[in-house]
Amino acid sequence: MRDFTRQEAEAVLFEAEKMEALLKTPEKCSRILPNRLVANMFFEPSTRTSQSFQAASSRLGAKTLSFHPQSSSAAKGETFSDTIRMVDGYSDAIVLRHAHEGAARLAADISEHPVINAGDGGNQHPTQTLVDLYTIKKLKGKITGLKIALFGDLRHARTMHSLLFGLSMFGAEMMLISPPSLSMGAPSIREAERKFNAKITAVSIKDLPQADVLYVCRVQKERFEDPREAIAAEGAFRVSAKLLKSAKKDLAILHPLPKVSEIDPIVDDDPRAKYFGQAKNGVPVRMAVLTRCIIGKGAKKRGQGEVVRFSCRNASCILRLQPAPQGGILGADGVARCRYCEQPARG
Ligand code: NCD
Repeated sequence: MRDFTRQEAEAVLFEAEKMEALLKTPEKCSRILPNRLVANMFFEPSTRTSQSFQAASSRLGAKTLSFHPQSSSAAKGETFSDTIRMVDGYSDAIVLRHAHEGAARLAADISEHPVINAGDGGNQHPTQTLVDLYTIKKLKGKITGLKIALFGDLRHARTMHSLLFGLSMFGAEMMLISPPSLSMGAPSIREAERKFNAKITAVSIKDLPQADVLYVCRVQKERFEDPREAIAAEGAFRVSAKLLKSAKKDLAILHPLPKVSEIDPIVDDDPRAKYFGQAKNGVPVRMAVLTRCIIGKGAKKRGQGEVVRFSCRNASCILRLQPAPQGGILGADGVARCRYCEQPARG
């Protein structure tokens, strides 16, 4: 999301509306990207992101190349950068999900074609955020000024980190609700405040009645060093029918999915539960993203900012897996961050 301005994000949302209208025609598709090949490279599990990118590519007349890390040469020990170079040679764009933070940025540096970040470790998930912003705008008619409660594992969820920037950019007010061990990291909050003058407050679940949107996420088990802590955290929060009694009648409940135990299944029948419609919006939004990256203005853009000396210490950075030139980008908030994983210096 750091690569986007509000104007650019708005352009994607506008384009996505047109794509949604297209999906409602009897043809349901348009040959906007004929004969293009989109490589879907998911090094981490995915249902919605990978399927909606595949669906979006097909609806645009493009074809997809699939990739399964366990049955690819990655399992034989091929380096990340070699794999990316190969696939870049076969395709017109790469959609990449990886457990290491900054993997998409490094892949974009290596490849000739555009790389779309479909989730990099706990860092960012920008296309999910565009889906979230699109969904909120569609349901509420606006984003600016809305009170949005972010509820769940705010520490580890890339969806929450991306969304914090997206909502800040659009001038929403954010209410952070989480158990103390899962709270949003201070650097992310400071960055959003400095860059966008964002209104962010940490509140308790008792403040839910003020919220216009409740955005929930699961405990990100795979990002915990100690699995026992993840199990303990899972029991620490849950959206139930009882909890929702005090919430607004027109509250929108969103979730990037998959949901595990953090939402009582009975809530699915509450008309305020909008997460399945949100997932459906993944197709038109990703159609807009693919079009913009492959034939539009969004192609091959680097993050803005002055390049500075920087040595990354983040244990989850792609540099731990794939050596590459170190370096940092000085952000608009005056903080230097690793050019790949975007984490500020630690300690
Ligand atoms: C999310 C992800 O992968 O970060 N899923 C998705 O893309 N919709 C959320 C999650 O896994 O919790």
